[in-house]
Amino acid sequence: MEKIPILTIKQQARLNRESIIAERRYLHNNPELSFKEINTSAYIKQQLTGAGIAWKQQAGTGITAEIHGGLGSSPVIALRSDMDALPITENTGVEYQSLNAGVMHACGHDAHMAILLGAARILQSMRDDFSGTIKLIFQPAEEKLPGGAKEMINEGVLLNPVPKVVFGQHVRPDLPAGKVGICKGLSMASMDEIFVKITGKGGHAAQPNTVIDPVSIAAQLIVAMQQVVSRFADPLTPTVLSFGKLIANGAINIIPDEVLMEGTFRTFDETWRYEAHKKMKLLAEHLVSSMGGRCEFTINSGYPSLHNDEQLCDTWMQYATDYLGEENVINTGKWMASEDFAYYSHNRPSVFYYLGVGNEEKHITAPLHSSNFNIDEDALEIGVGLMVYIALQELIHHSKTLINTNSFSL
Ligand code: NI
Repeated sequence: MEKIPILTIKQQARLNRESIIAERRYLHNNPELSFKEINTSAYIKQQLTGAGIAWKQQAGTGITAEIHGGLGSSPVIALRSDMDALPITENTGVEYQSLNAGVMHACGHDAHMAILLGAARILQSMRDDFSGTIKLIFQPAEEKLPGGAKEMINEGVLLNPVPKVVFGQHVRPDLPAGKVGICKGLSMASMDEIFVKITGKGGHAAQPNTVIDPVSIAAQLIVAMQQVVSRFADPLTPTVLSFGKLIANGAINIIPDEVLMEGTFRTFDETWRYEAHKKMKLLAEHLVSSMGGRCEFTINSGYPSLHNDEQLCDTWMQYATDYLGEENVINTGKWMASEDFAYYSHNRPSVFYYLGVGNEEKHITAPLHSSNFNIDEDALEIGVGLMVYIALQELIHHSKTLINTNSFSL
């Protein structure tokens, strides 16, 4: 297969380095919560317009844009970034720290946007020399159900034209900058929210025989529900059930009327996922009623599991190896976190890969979603160059047509 000269792309990424860092810092300075990315959206539109790329708004604050190759409009591929920040008060102390109190880009979506913008600018400057359409997807609200991806897809982001493949990426502080990672096949978990209300009958703690104790029932229920994981789940299908919130607002000598519980259920198999919902509900209702209480059991279904297309993973690994060297491409294994990129992966062959942004020497090790989270900005240039290389190489892969590689030479 014809290959794009990597040195040219590395040089382009290097030339764009300062503007990519500046864009990431602007976005980091000005984080916005899910579905409220108004200024973020305006900034991206302004940057796209500046690069001569036409855009349109979708799903509220979301944006799609297309880069059209001068040698023809097919094939079509898509590149996706999320846009939202988290309700966290930043504690990094960096000079470009969040200016919006209580809101922080603690999941690296600022980096994702800056990388997609940087890649878009480079691809746009090379457009005369390739055949194909590169769809850019800036989607809102990855962090909040129902997820911006779902709304973008409902509004037709994967239609007219239909992309052959979709690529997305996420920064990972547990991978050193300079390395990238991938997990073939099922790679990230589905995520469902569980809400349980147990109603009993409160009273004096000294007379348990006269009350229906929802605290004692909740304790039994938490333990019993783990049976769904340990006895019903296929041992080869990772499954997690965790309760992180339990409100029993009685006192030392008062048994309350009710207890509220909240938890999360995660797994990798969509059939098992919905079977488990039924089993948990049945078990909860029966156990609570057998102890004299009433149970309201609600599941708010979140994102599905994320499926990285196996064949596309192989080609992605080849591209990443070409660009970064074999030693820098890591097989990461499954991750129990969840991502609304999963919706793209259920619609089109997709790959969601990880960009290393950690650096122990620079003390950049804080985890995602923490108030100290930061990235090694050296990773931005790598992320941009790799994305450009993947996009161009994938266009060649599908079109098997000419690409004017002469103009890519140094
Ligand atoms: Ni994220």
